Amino acid sequence: MIEVKDLWKSYNGTPVLKGLNLEVKEGETLVILGRSGCGKSVLLRQILGLEKPDKGEILVKGVCISKLKESALYQAIREMGMLFQASALFDSLTVGENTAFYLTQHNHHTDKEKEELVAEALKMVGLEGKQEALPGDLSGGMRKRAALARLIVYRPKILLYDEPTTGLDPITAMQINELIVKTQKELNATSIVVTHDICSAFHVADRIALNHEGKIVYIATKEEFIKIDDPIVKTFLKNAIPDGDLLNG
Ligand SMILES: Nc1ncnc2c1ncn2[C@@H]1O[C@H](COP(=O)(O)OP(=O)(O)OP(=O)(O)O)[C@@H](O)[C@H]1O
Ligand SMILES: [Mg+2]
Repeated sequence: MIEVKDLWKSYNGTPVLKGLNLEVKEGETLVILGRSGCGKSVLLRQILGLEKPDKGEILVKGVCISKLKESALYQAIREMGMLFQASALFDSLTVGENTAFYLTQHNHHTDKEKEELVAEALKMVGLEGKQEALPGDLSGGMRKRAALARLIVYRPKILLYDEPTTGLDPITAMQINELIVKTQKELNATSIVVTHDICSAFHVADRIALNHEGKIVYIATKEEFIKIDDPIVKTFLKNAIPDGDLLNG
């Protein structure tokens, strides 16, 4: 579904992605772990086509995203949705208007259809009836859910999540994890979730990849990942929950 081949990206002469390879299978949820600054958000922006690579290519359903012209790129990324690290809701718009945002941009729907789609998306994320609320009135978890509703509403086939649970309390984080799993099933989507939250990773992942210094050094099912005998992996897992059982919650 998504293939990243030998991807290089530098900023101001400093390489961030250094020949990164990655394959995401159709219908799976792939979690990407990695230390702060290793280029996880950069990778998601590359997949979304927001930035061009210095070298290498990204194929989405066999189409090379980095070489598309603007109109074709627009078409391709309509199938994708990204939940940004900061929820990025429009503060002056209501939750309903925020949720309708991409529908309004595409303008394929009547007002009544839009209303129904918005109501359905808000219901799915547990924000039923919150159309008139303003983002400023919502808690962090509710803002995340509203941002997710804004994606769900146009039913993207590929979902990219950048640290969806960071900064949330454990219970709210778990609600978001459950929503990620539910969204995946309902949209029949392919998802990439970038996170530091190991509990979240093990809750949502089919496979887990580790980005170390700008390259994917491991990619495995969560059952296999936990057995990897490598100090980098072990440090990641140990720092998460010292005595916890990751595979059984
Ligand atoms: N537009 C940019 N201009 C200059 N440097 C950038 C830009 N975007 C990212 N970088 C640099 O690239 C590196 C990787 O950034 P990135 O945001 O991908 O990290 P990350 O792995 O997502 O970290 P975190 O877990 O903290 O979110 C950082 O050193 C960052 O400063
Ligand atoms: Mg980031």
